[in-house]
Amino acid sequence: MLKFPAGFLWGVSTSAHQFEGGNFHNQWHEWERRGRIRSGHTCAPACDWWNNAAHDLDLCRELGLNAIRIALDWGRLEPTQGKWNDEAFEYYRRLLQLIHDRGMRPFITLHHFTHPVWFENEGAFLNGSLLSSFSAYAERAVEQLRDLCCDWLTFNEPNVYAIFGYMFGEFPPGRHNQVRDTAVVLSNLHRAHALAYDRIHELQNHAMVGLTTNWTEFQPATTSAADRFLTYIYDGMFNRSSLQFFRNGSPDFPFGALAPNVAEVIDKIDFIGVNVYNRLHVKSPFEQTFRRTGGLFVPTTCPQGDPGVELPYGESYPAAVCNAVREYGKLRVPIYVMENGVPDESDRIRPWLIVNTLKHLHELISNGFDVRGYLHWSIVDNFEWNEGWTLRFGLYSLDCYTQERSPRFSASLYREIVRANGISAEQLSRFSEPPSPAAPTSAE
Ligand code: BGC
Repeated sequence: MLKFPAGFLWGVSTSAHQFEGGNFHNQWHEWERRGRIRSGHTCAPACDWWNNAAHDLDLCRELGLNAIRIALDWGRLEPTQGKWNDEAFEYYRRLLQLIHDRGMRPFITLHHFTHPVWFENEGAFLNGSLLSSFSAYAERAVEQLRDLCCDWLTFNEPNVYAIFGYMFGEFPPGRHNQVRDTAVVLSNLHRAHALAYDRIHELQNHAMVGLTTNWTEFQPATTSAADRFLTYIYDGMFNRSSLQFFRNGSPDFPFGALAPNVAEVIDKIDFIGVNVYNRLHVKSPFEQTFRRTGGLFVPTTCPQGDPGVELPYGESYPAAVCNAVREYGKLRVPIYVMENGVPDESDRIRPWLIVNTLKHLHELISNGFDVRGYLHWSIVDNFEWNEGWTLRFGLYSLDCYTQERSPRFSASLYREIVRANGISAEQLSRFSEPPSPAAPTSAE
């Protein structure tokens, strides 16, 4: 049995927009209204947490979890600038109480991709003069909720938010190839983090304030200098940006050269989260076939979730956690795996992913890395941004029309692991190989 340290946190991560339903005052709702959700689905009522979160929190209790990450929807709390919605704060107070009643420690994300429409219309994080609005929101949230939570994440995946919104056009505001704006947004997100960090500590002296970043493993397709160089650029731009901000106040080339240095953010981090899912392979785009994707691809033989080789989900890769923890370990603060999972409706590959990610994590802890918890994404299927209801990440499946839940095999597997606080030899041997055939070749 590979045992985890006593007090290790076992949990699930969630977000407001993907779970609550009825978040009509944020920019993702606008995006949906403009027909930008690829699947054509509508988010409402999501997993119906606004009316009944207890249902899924009971499932968490059945799994024996002792932690959960939720998010607040800023648009719900401040639908008009400066006008706060007390009913929404009451909802979050009740939600936190339900979490405590079930013996779980809550982590709150202040910004999980969504913010009010008025904030978006004024330029969001591209507009440096708006950063005080974010810290005012953080301040209000902490004042209202501090008796029920002391673990705060300012942002979920600043790298994904900036790059998907301003380079790939996949997230609102849907811009393409705006390298300079991407750099400014990244820099402003970290400035906003620093402002909120100070405010939260003034209001709650025992608060722990961090953020979580996405780590995608980039693998050069060959040992050629061109493939390795491109891999190095992607890795620096995407994976290491938050690390560089917290260490130096500025990310690597090219973003570092395009945005102001943010010295005030250095060391303002009490814990770091890493969200680890996948690996993308990198081939120099000078070859025609790889031009469209900027050289990124997934070999058909790799383990894959339901989108197959489609980007950005790509290869399901348990060892992604290794470099993520090694690199972010340089910050010398506690580390949490804040998200890990795979879109897998039939639970074909998820058990293998869970067991093997945890096997790597156990080894990292044995080697001295201060990893304090693992939170799976997620407890139930939820609204997957542009992919709507087509991608299924839940330990439990959800029929969004009837709101019926049913356990996947992974739910009982995770329960066994959580209860044992470790992975058994039997689980390790049963899931040592990815299922064969490894993956579908398309997302149909
Ligand atoms: C995001 C989640 C999302 C998950 C699966 C993460 O990058 O934080 O909101 O559902 O990936 O794609």
